[in-house]
Amino acid sequence: MKEEKNSRRSFLTKTIAGISGSVIATSIPLSALASNTNTEVLDAKHDFLTKPYLQAPTSDSITIMWLTNLLCLNWVEYGETEKLGTKAQQCAHGMMNTNSKINTVTLKNLKPDTKYFYKVFSKQILDFQPYKITFGNIISSETYQFNTLDPKAKEVSWLVLNDIHDRPESFGELIHLNQNEPYDFVFLNGDMFDYQTDEKQIIDHLLHPCSLFSAEKPFMFVRGNHETRGKFSRNLLDYYYNYNKKEYYTFQMGPVFTIVLDTGEDKKDSHPVYGGTVNYDSYREEQAVWLEKQMKSKAFKNAPFRVVMMHIPHYHSDEEHGTTECRRLFGTLFEKYKIDLFVAGHTHEYGMFEPNTDHSYHFVIGGGPETGIRTLIRIKANSKVLNLQMLNDSGKEIGLFTLNTKR
Ligand SMILES: [Fe+2]
Repeated sequence: MKEEKNSRRSFLTKTIAGISGSVIATSIPLSALASNTNTEVLDAKHDFLTKPYLQAPTSDSITIMWLTNLLCLNWVEYGETEKLGTKAQQCAHGMMNTNSKINTVTLKNLKPDTKYFYKVFSKQILDFQPYKITFGNIISSETYQFNTLDPKAKEVSWLVLNDIHDRPESFGELIHLNQNEPYDFVFLNGDMFDYQTDEKQIIDHLLHPCSLFSAEKPFMFVRGNHETRGKFSRNLLDYYYNYNKKEYYTFQMGPVFTIVLDTGEDKKDSHPVYGGTVNYDSYREEQAVWLEKQMKSKAFKNAPFRVVMMHIPHYHSDEEHGTTECRRLFGTLFEKYKIDLFVAGHTHEYGMFEPNTDHSYHFVIGGGPETGIRTLIRIKANSKVLNLQMLNDSGKEIGLFTLNTKR
């Protein structure tokens, strides 16, 4: 029996998953991978800059990202047991993702509602000549696990953080307040930073603090107005992977259909501080057209709960240009198509507001960033009831909404 087991292990199924969705599966001997290990001595400095982190989970796919300090060829090995057995590499336009330090692999054709184990690998590229690529050592992570979504899930729960503003310790302190309550993912509702400077800031102030959970539970992210600022703001987008690689997106988990919008900057595009480098007016208009399409979908209409999360709240806030444009473009659609719950940040003053004459839905704003006004929002829903609980950073409950489904 033992020999048989080992002989099965001597082959890995190689799966090449293209970004376009095409998947090619072949078998390669494990020894083909092992033969590279004799180059490990060439450069002992090759190292991971982050643990792997999970993004954009669905019932049959998940995206795994990780950073390395040197250029590499990268892949993931995964399987339903700790023996792994399947290899996946990102491939686009016939080329495998190679010579990268920001490594992304989307696993596809997974089974729904299934636990998978995975490990990431990076093979250093010492020299990339047209006809001769010289590889260095291979490094690998520990083995982690994740669950694909259950398309028939009866429940979903998640945590919301917002307005951390370059205070990395806040991630752990706030998530710790959840104690051991289960959750499916963490949503980062903007302004994790003051402004974007460089990769080190993204690692130290986002990816490392999230590594508390993100090798096994995904985080999803939407920019706040502060993430649009600074010399590295255009690069920030490379470090996470939302659904369809978009900054505004939807997802359905269990009884909840969620819409995420990117609210852009707070001031007018023509404000001198932007120096003529932004066009958020058109971007919000584009999202409004997209938003209405999402709200006409069957998935939105039939979902027991319809939730919107975005950074700048269109009420209970200031009257800056970003706020009033979000109200004009998005707020009118929220009313027309009747959302159930709205969750934002931005004001640095937490609040929970019952439906009123401005908004027919429950309206929540998380606090932060200073100690004493930070919040952890916990949302949990089944097909009948959605509970939203807000905790302050001492762990005290400061608000609770219980919504019954309307459909
Ligand atoms: Fe903000």
